Amino acid sequence: MALSKINPTILSSWKKLIQQFDKENNHHISDFFKEGDNRLDEFTINWNNFYVDFSKNRLSKNTFKLLTSLCKETNLKDNIDKYFNGAIINETEGRSVLHTALRSSGNDEVDKTLDKIINISDELNNAKRLGYTGKKITDVVNIGIGGSHLGPEMVTEALSYYSKGVKPHFISNIDSDFTSKILKDLNPETTLFIIVSKTFTTIETLENANKIRVWFIENASENAIKDHFIAISNNTEVPKKFGISPDNILSIPDWVGGRFSLWGSVGLVISIVIGSENFKDFLKGAHEMDIHFKNSPFEKNIPVVLALLSIWYNNFFKCETEAVLPYSQFLTKLPDYLQQASMESNGKSIDRSGKKVNYQTGSIVWGSTGTNAQHAFFQLMHQGTKIIPSDFIAFKSSLYGDSDQHEILNSNFLAQTNALMMGKSTSGEDIHKNIDGNKPSNSIVINKLDPFNLGSLIAMYENKIFTIGSILNVFSYDQWGVELGKSIAKEILLGNEDTLDKSTKKIREQLNE
Ligand code: F6P
Repeated sequence: MALSKINPTILSSWKKLIQQFDKENNHHISDFFKEGDNRLDEFTINWNNFYVDFSKNRLSKNTFKLLTSLCKETNLKDNIDKYFNGAIINETEGRSVLHTALRSSGNDEVDKTLDKIINISDELNNAKRLGYTGKKITDVVNIGIGGSHLGPEMVTEALSYYSKGVKPHFISNIDSDFTSKILKDLNPETTLFIIVSKTFTTIETLENANKIRVWFIENASENAIKDHFIAISNNTEVPKKFGISPDNILSIPDWVGGRFSLWGSVGLVISIVIGSENFKDFLKGAHEMDIHFKNSPFEKNIPVVLALLSIWYNNFFKCETEAVLPYSQFLTKLPDYLQQASMESNGKSIDRSGKKVNYQTGSIVWGSTGTNAQHAFFQLMHQGTKIIPSDFIAFKSSLYGDSDQHEILNSNFLAQTNALMMGKSTSGEDIHKNIDGNKPSNSIVINKLDPFNLGSLIAMYENKIFTIGSILNVFSYDQWGVELGKSIAKEILLGNEDTLDKSTKKIREQLNE
């Protein structure tokens, strides 16, 4: 029940794609529109509250057909079934990958944890669960890093419009100045701390949690820890030693990877901030996207199409990077979140058969919000030497109802994708003002930034990541590369320098001078 182990470059679709690339790589996107009237019918997907237009890509109909053949030749359909059915697809860690089960009911463990999340958030928001002096909890601090931080912070910020009143704070980095600054403004009587660590061994999280524990005891009391600290982990012993009451320890199943964990107990802070009903909607939206991904034909399957475009640009145009550009200031943290989800997953160079790959795997994901990004790095996108395929994300309606300003925001979104594709020819005029165009983009138009649609958007990217890994024959759900640096840092702290190179040893001396 493992995923197929097929080197994509030996397949006939891949070989034909090489020829196709040689024939078409200089074609202008605008010319592809002349291939027939139905480009928009074929290269757009209308689904639920999403309208996805991928017609502005360096993609002919023939190339698109070959890319979908690549899905078939790599057994994508079968691999998707294995992913959803709990096969051990994270082979190097011997685990299933079932974060999708966190957003569909029917699993006892999942349902029980969801009930706990709902109870805790409802009790806090209804002032039934109070601080140790009887006051309402007004602030919640999430202590965790990587997958135990990026998703919850991104989502609470993205959905801050739906806030029920409790103010979230996030402490991730091991930067005592930052932690001290956050604590300075908090009242221990009205603050809840959630320590999130799947392993409960992550040095940053444990150090920060211990620092906060000392602060809490100094400013409140050791006895009150049971009312003010919650742990989220699949290690229950260490949180107990910390003083956390067993009732306040929520588990993370083994089959949930850190970077995909926000749908379960790791999302507690989200549910507290936006309320449990909104949290349930968030899960529903993600579940709907899973159904779309499982059942739609590849040509009309949003995550699959986005994955195929990513592979096309990364492997054939050698683009290396792709940008995510949400036209909503609330989604500032989406690129950071997707960086971990994507780069920690598909940043691999050994294939599923244990061989070094001879092609590109995960690309570099980055981005920022529009219109801010227009005034920062768009110049390079328009006139630089690189091709940066990008996802432009926009919302039809504004949250607060200022439709005039929202129209200005969205006209910028439209202008940029149009300008990237069409450019501007200045024959006879100043050559510096010439803009070639032919720069690809996807437009993802969503009705409104609400919990349901955000759930769908995140699940869309998760399923894109799965598809890229599946086709490119890598294990997407381990992260051995990150482990090496962690163990060296531990050795350095212990004073074991033998294995350090000369340059690093010298820098260490400089730091300690
Ligand atoms: O950065 C590596 C990593 O293992 C991530 O995958 C994970 O999200 C993060 O560290 C935090 O791990 P934990 O939740 O166990 O503290």
